[in-house]
Amino acid sequence: MPNTLDDTFVTEGPWKPDIFKGKVAFVTGGAGTICRVQTEALLLLGCKAAIVGRNKEKTELAAREMTQLTGSPDSVLPVSGVDVREFDQLERAVAATVEKFGRIDFVIAGAAGNFIAPFADLSANAFKSVVSIDLLGSFNTAKACHPQLKISKGSILFVSATFHYYGVPFQCHVGAAKAGIDALSNALAVELGVSGIRSNCIAPGAIEGTEGMARLSGSANKEKMCSKIPLQRLGTTKDIAETTVFLFSDAAKYVTGTVHIVDGGMWHLGTHF
Ligand code: HXC
Repeated sequence: MPNTLDDTFVTEGPWKPDIFKGKVAFVTGGAGTICRVQTEALLLLGCKAAIVGRNKEKTELAAREMTQLTGSPDSVLPVSGVDVREFDQLERAVAATVEKFGRIDFVIAGAAGNFIAPFADLSANAFKSVVSIDLLGSFNTAKACHPQLKISKGSILFVSATFHYYGVPFQCHVGAAKAGIDALSNALAVELGVSGIRSNCIAPGAIEGTEGMARLSGSANKEKMCSKIPLQRLGTTKDIAETTVFLFSDAAKYVTGTVHIVDGGMWHLGTHF
């Protein structure tokens, strides 16, 4: 299954076209696999988007390819040179987005870093790097976008995981970071709800064709992996996109402080590959 969407997402899917017309998304990690397809779904439904990343070439190429989906060269703004660990770089990205599109309604805090490392070999700096990208980066993203979200009464979506519901070996750095992201989202849901801002998490399971899967599953056998998942298949980036659309749509206007697990029921088994 290719990690991109096309018109059939609208013509054959459950969503009405143009439900996000006039809206603007700000997406960190938007050139990566999962967040890119989340963004494509929003674009196909009428949204505009800024995709924010560290690497100029990768971010600009992704933006060019994504504009082909909408047919409008003005629908995607690439903002590169942004490391989510640096708050001032995110403030600059927010300013560029507002200058281009005038507003921010939806935020996807998706930039993440991961690798497999036994606790015994994980340096303090390696732990700090992942926690800083995932957790501090999510905080910085929400914080930099907050003034715009107050104006738009917008919505934040953090990208979490299920690792911290049980113990996954060689992933203590990511588990700790993602647990913090859930806590951050819950606190913001309560604190910012009075400003009309919603905050939710999406927790992907094993999603086919992603960098995360490549890093984490190694040479694991696909059939064996699927047999361990209650719904008997790997997830797709489209599965994550569909839940993203729901959470940003008016159908979820009373939904805040949740973690939406999109994993085919896998975590209930405490399974990891
Ligand atoms: C052990 C490692 C390591 C590895 C890096 N380090 N890779 N330690 N095993 N494989 C250590 C380094 O030795 C160093 O510690 C510290 O981590 C920082 O490394 P740098 O390369 O200097 O950091 P940086 O350039 O900031 O890179 C951050 C990174 C990198 C996280 C290490 O992998 C990265 O940028 N990744 C972004 C892309 C990515 O990871 N995508 C996957 C996302 S998937 P010392 O002590 O030597 O200084 C995902 C899924 C989550 O997040 C789970 C969902 C289910």
